[in-house]
Amino acid sequence: MSNNLIDRLTADLATAEAAGTYKRLKIIESPIGHRIWLEGKGEVTLLSSNDYLGLANDPEVISTARDALLSYGASTASVRFICGTQAVHQTLEADLARFHGTEASLTYSSCWAANTGLFAAITGAGDVILSDELNHASLIDGIRMTGKNVVRAVYKHADMADLEAKLQEHQGAPSRMIVTDGVFSMEGDIAPLDQITALAKKYDALVVLDDSHGLGVMGKTGHGTAEHFGVMADIDIFTGTLGKALAAGTGGFVAGPKAVTETLIQKSRPHLFSNALPASVAAAGSKSIEILERHPERVTGLQEKAAKFRARLKELGLNPLEGDSAVVPVIVGETATAIRLAGEMLDQGIFVTGFGFPVVPEGEARLRFQISAAHTDAELEDAAEKLQACLSVQA
Ligand SMILES: Cc1ncc(COP(=O)(O)O)c(C=O)c1O
Repeated sequence: MSNNLIDRLTADLATAEAAGTYKRLKIIESPIGHRIWLEGKGEVTLLSSNDYLGLANDPEVISTARDALLSYGASTASVRFICGTQAVHQTLEADLARFHGTEASLTYSSCWAANTGLFAAITGAGDVILSDELNHASLIDGIRMTGKNVVRAVYKHADMADLEAKLQEHQGAPSRMIVTDGVFSMEGDIAPLDQITALAKKYDALVVLDDSHGLGVMGKTGHGTAEHFGVMADIDIFTGTLGKALAAGTGGFVAGPKAVTETLIQKSRPHLFSNALPASVAAAGSKSIEILERHPERVTGLQEKAAKFRARLKELGLNPLEGDSAVVPVIVGETATAIRLAGEMLDQGIFVTGFGFPVVPEGEARLRFQISAAHTDAELEDAAEKLQACLSVQA
């Protein structure tokens, strides 16, 4: 079959292959954990996963999911408002609201769905959305989906002077909303929520926080980046995922005022037109929250490991980006370099992902290490030494 579009795609793929930027899916033959079994490679240390608390293969989470599977069946076979709401969904939403200290919460099939379903449903004519330039793609796309009469502006990354100037500019608008990631997933840095919430108060703005990489990672008890700054009560709307530290499988949520979650039930398109979470996942989500609340030492252990890994990379003369999170990126330059280095690390038993353009700016390709509470000190030391060896061969 010959078709212009298919021919063009085929040519583009060949170009990516020649440039060394072609992404290939790796097949994992074991559960996710700090060590995994990879097709064609054998056992490797996994430093690319969001399984920050090591719950992805936790026996309690699995048996809770299995029990719910047996009690409620495999699928909701429906969207929430038709016949897709089971008791486990209500329980999970109550747990998420309690955890965040909000009035209510609403789950989605992913945080992608939550973020793309939120903004268009709650904004109206003249409302202003101010978004950090490095926000996650799902926030960017969600904000793009708002009506033409909603004002969208992007402020420079974590730049409070720019944010304040934009808040001032829009003082007369019916409402203002500041939208930010908690932990920026490609940089590993965190939003200055102390300053953002102060500006929000000064200019009567709402704060929407996507803390997908902060929940379970940041703050003394893993309540996230807002807990880290002591401003949990100043965040109006939280969004997040059940597929990272809270290793329910998949799923996302919005937690906030009841007026928001009830509006989402009426108007949010991914809620109205997409299946509910399977009961097994909803139950696993509640169990993950319970484990996190029971084991704050997992969070502090993770924080210590991430800080130690960063410090060790520096000691070895490597240059991780500064940050307090469990995302530790090392800039290596061109996209092809990042992909080649990731391949070399994998050949030595370290699974770390190389990210390049367009995910990150041209020339700032990186290897992104993600630390888990489950990693041993020896595994992290091994990864640091192998990175140093790979980079020194390159130099
Ligand atoms: C900040 C942020 N928001 C949202 C998402 C999407 O989460 P999910 O996998 O639940 O769709 C991610 C996932 O990478 C993320 O990093």
